[in-house]
Amino acid sequence: MKITFSAPGVPDEGVVVVGVMNDRTLTPSAEELNERTAGQLRRAMEASSFQGKKDQTLSVLAPANTSVARVVLAGLGAPEDLDALRIQAIGGHVLAHLDGATCETAHVCIDPVADCPLQPSALAAEFAYGMQLRHYSFRKYFTKDQDDAPTKLKSVAIGCAEADAAKKAFAPLAKVAEAVHWTRDLAAEPANIMYPETLAKQAKSLESLGVEVEVLGEKEMKKLGMGALLGVGQGSERESKLVVMRWRGGGASGSDEDGAGEKEKGKDKKKKKKSSQADDGPGPVAFIGKGVTFDTGGISIKPSASMEDMKWDMAGAATVLGVMRALAARKAAVDAVGIAGLVENMPSGTAQRPGDVVTSMSGQTIEVINTDAEGRLVLADALWYCKETFQPRLMIDLATLTGAIIIALGHEHAGLFTNDDTLAEELTAAGSSVEESVWRMPLGDGYDKLIKSDIADMKNVGNRGAGSISAAQFLKRFVGDTPWAHLDIAGVAWAKADRGTTPKGGTGFGVRLLDRFVADNYEQG
Ligand code: BES
Ligand code: MN
Ligand code: ZN
Repeated sequence: MKITFSAPGVPDEGVVVVGVMNDRTLTPSAEELNERTAGQLRRAMEASSFQGKKDQTLSVLAPANTSVARVVLAGLGAPEDLDALRIQAIGGHVLAHLDGATCETAHVCIDPVADCPLQPSALAAEFAYGMQLRHYSFRKYFTKDQDDAPTKLKSVAIGCAEADAAKKAFAPLAKVAEAVHWTRDLAAEPANIMYPETLAKQAKSLESLGVEVEVLGEKEMKKLGMGALLGVGQGSERESKLVVMRWRGGGASGSDEDGAGEKEKGKDKKKKKKSSQADDGPGPVAFIGKGVTFDTGGISIKPSASMEDMKWDMAGAATVLGVMRALAARKAAVDAVGIAGLVENMPSGTAQRPGDVVTSMSGQTIEVINTDAEGRLVLADALWYCKETFQPRLMIDLATLTGAIIIALGHEHAGLFTNDDTLAEELTAAGSSVEESVWRMPLGDGYDKLIKSDIADMKNVGNRGAGSISAAQFLKRFVGDTPWAHLDIAGVAWAKADRGTTPKGGTGFGVRLLDRFVADNYEQG
């Protein structure tokens, strides 16, 4: 969808979107159209239940005295509540309305709104962002035209004061929206197409944006002693992979490579690895994703009902890829590491068995009681590797880790577990700013005891109670003293129904959240 910004003005033809505030208070553009049409907009409102409340829309077709084909009245609600999130949601709503009406082009009039916290240029940019985020569907595998294809709109012109400023404000938002769409695509792909090797190949595409991408195979991981991750993948025909991504936007901490220049890049990997370790600076921020490209449960096999949903079990990794893309695309001034642990959890003659003991890269041993509690095994080695290799200033992992988090929080919040109160505050604030909410859950010694094993340093499951917390306690054993947060996104990584700026399907949860988390707290200058 093409979005352009132009000078304000109400056009004489096509589809025109104008705003209406609470109590049917018309914005100037709506007023102008109402006058042109001899009061037809007011009569239409009065003949309907449209009050100008947020998210209400009303189409008025073929109004008199003009060649305009359709006027869409968009409810804005109370002007003082019209902040970035609200106008994004309205943009998403209007997009859905236009798609539902099979419009292919539209003109949106953004007027200055008294008492609104945002300038018209910001209103225009955020409205466009909401439209763009909502304008998504995964249609790759339809071979025939679908009458009910949800995305019809091809181009939108947004008229507003200071159109250049709006365009400038929209540019980085558009990059984030692209990253969100990419993450949704990666999650939506079926597991016969998206498996460790192909997902790693997707990560490689980030090199074109200046992200350094290294992919470790089973041989390399074996050398590193990643027995926990490798145990999960050992029943699969597909080779397990660990993707290591690096975005050096922070300037100073990449300085020892400045002199080396492009030629040296990738020439001597060992040397490069060394220089990627934290020197004097605080170390990079690091994001680690669970990438189980399909989770059958392994030998502790899952029931077949809804097992197809387990193609989403790589959503954490997809989000990490999306975050790296967003940061690189908008050239964020931050030093960031992204790690994706990619495996397929299958039952077979080579699969690990319940009761097996594996040794993780950290040296700690794990009794695998249930092969379906595999995400934590993957993350155990990914987290430890991240900590050892990069000495990051903080680590945040994302994982569709437990069904229990859906029991606790439903689909409203991701579960947040952390050993650091500052991180808790920063993530909670970032989540509220982008409407990807997180809710802090407890950690504690009492919960840690749940994973005591009779035969090894720990076991990979606790009891029935506190399933999400014992999973988090397990991860905590692999982060050392590093400030760390774990986001259990099992309830929010995909949606069964459309909602605001997020159509049903993969949500891309976490891309906006972590991009904002970085922008608000870890970008220099
Ligand atoms: N990938 C699942 C968690 C999950 C379940 C995500 C449902 C989304 C929807 C995870 O690997 C898993 O199987 N967890 C088990 C853990 C249990 C065996 C301790 C679970 O939640 O049942
Ligand atoms: Mn599982
Ligand atoms: Zn899983």
